[in-house]
Amino acid sequence: MTFDRAARRSLPTLPLAAAEIPLSGPLPSPVPLTGARREIWERALPYLDVRDNDAHSLYAFALATALLHTLPGAREDVVLPAVLLHDTGWKTVDPADILPAIAGRAGAAGQETIRRHETRGAAIAARILAEVGYPARDTERIVTIIDGHDTRRDALDLDDAVVKDADKLWRLTPHGLRTVGAWFALDPDRTLRFLVARTYDRLLTEPARAVGAALTVLARTDGSVQRSGLDAPSRDE
Ligand SMILES: [Fe+2]
Repeated sequence: MTFDRAARRSLPTLPLAAAEIPLSGPLPSPVPLTGARREIWERALPYLDVRDNDAHSLYAFALATALLHTLPGAREDVVLPAVLLHDTGWKTVDPADILPAIAGRAGAAGQETIRRHETRGAAIAARILAEVGYPARDTERIVTIIDGHDTRRDALDLDDAVVKDADKLWRLTPHGLRTVGAWFALDPDRTLRFLVARTYDRLLTEPARAVGAALTVLARTDGSVQRSGLDAPSRDE
């Protein structure tokens, strides 16, 4: 029997009623942005309107909450504000300098640009956390983590590792792949190869490596499903 892609049969639609959908299930959901976290987020937002950092930070926040589920030794009150605030410093950098620095094309000047977004982000975070009355000890840890979240390869502690991993894992999400592919005018296959090379070996925690592997395999599978024409829109019978 030969396989005819064009003849694949779609099933007739069966609309489910609201009562057939469970209200809540065992799936972990992101920690809500409420209370102090909401205040921090609202104060961070004006600094996050460059480089898709607003959406990036929300995805990294969701990934951090997932990692926290499996790494109970990490402190939510340090990790989550650090994720929300970690990229605020990009706002203070000339936008023309950002992508050459990230691509590694700008040499020492690019390294300085990356370092500047960390030090300025740390200062912005310290100010925002003081404004919302965040505890001084947590603030100190958050600021230390932000000041080195990209350039410090090794983690200072588990909180630092979770922030770094959540930040980098975003690259392998559908949103990260789309965003970075558009920055550098890459097709999906090249985007994935570029980002896997810059991400997978740098993940520091075991759960993040598992998530990274799953996201990479899914993205590769998406590519091969599309290439083989199996994702053609289904037809009603
Ligand atoms: Fe980031």
